[in-house]
Amino acid sequence: MAKIKVLFVCLGNICRSPLAEGIFRQRIAERQLTDHFLVDSCGTAAYHIGETPDERSVANAAANGVDYTHRGRQIKRQDFMSFDYLLAMDASNFRDLQEIQPKAPKAQLLMMRAFDSEQSGKDVPDPYYGGEDGFQQVFDILNDAVNNLIDHLASLHKLE
Ligand code: 4NP
Repeated sequence: MAKIKVLFVCLGNICRSPLAEGIFRQRIAERQLTDHFLVDSCGTAAYHIGETPDERSVANAAANGVDYTHRGRQIKRQDFMSFDYLLAMDASNFRDLQEIQPKAPKAQLLMMRAFDSEQSGKDVPDPYYGGEDGFQQVFDILNDAVNNLIDHLASLHKLE
């Protein structure tokens, strides 16, 4: 069976999108759904190519029982043809992706917080320049949205 290919996208690919990817991997493992998915993350910008995720984000996630790592990479046009779902962390990421997407992309472009419990469609705030509590706030937002996203995909693709 073809895997469902999910790509999380933020600006730098060191805070929000690798965390979303890490939480998603952990939650699909807990639900024995790992084999159904191919998961990755990237940034719209090139600032942090090859870098590991922000250590504050990694430490906060570990305190919440989620361990992850990643190497920063930038979005490429091919991603729109190889992935099924692109999850943008904020409206600016969403617009940047719209601008560079090819004419007939395979990927559906969605806002990450279209899947939060309020279906708010709001931005996932960027914790990069903020204080420590910003990281827990972002973890909670992403954890909620990721769980609902998995529910949605599991139901849509009849996985459970
Ligand atoms: P992210 O956060 O998009 O969640 O990875 C950022 C990280 C770095 C920068 C901006 C946002 N930066 O400008 O270096």
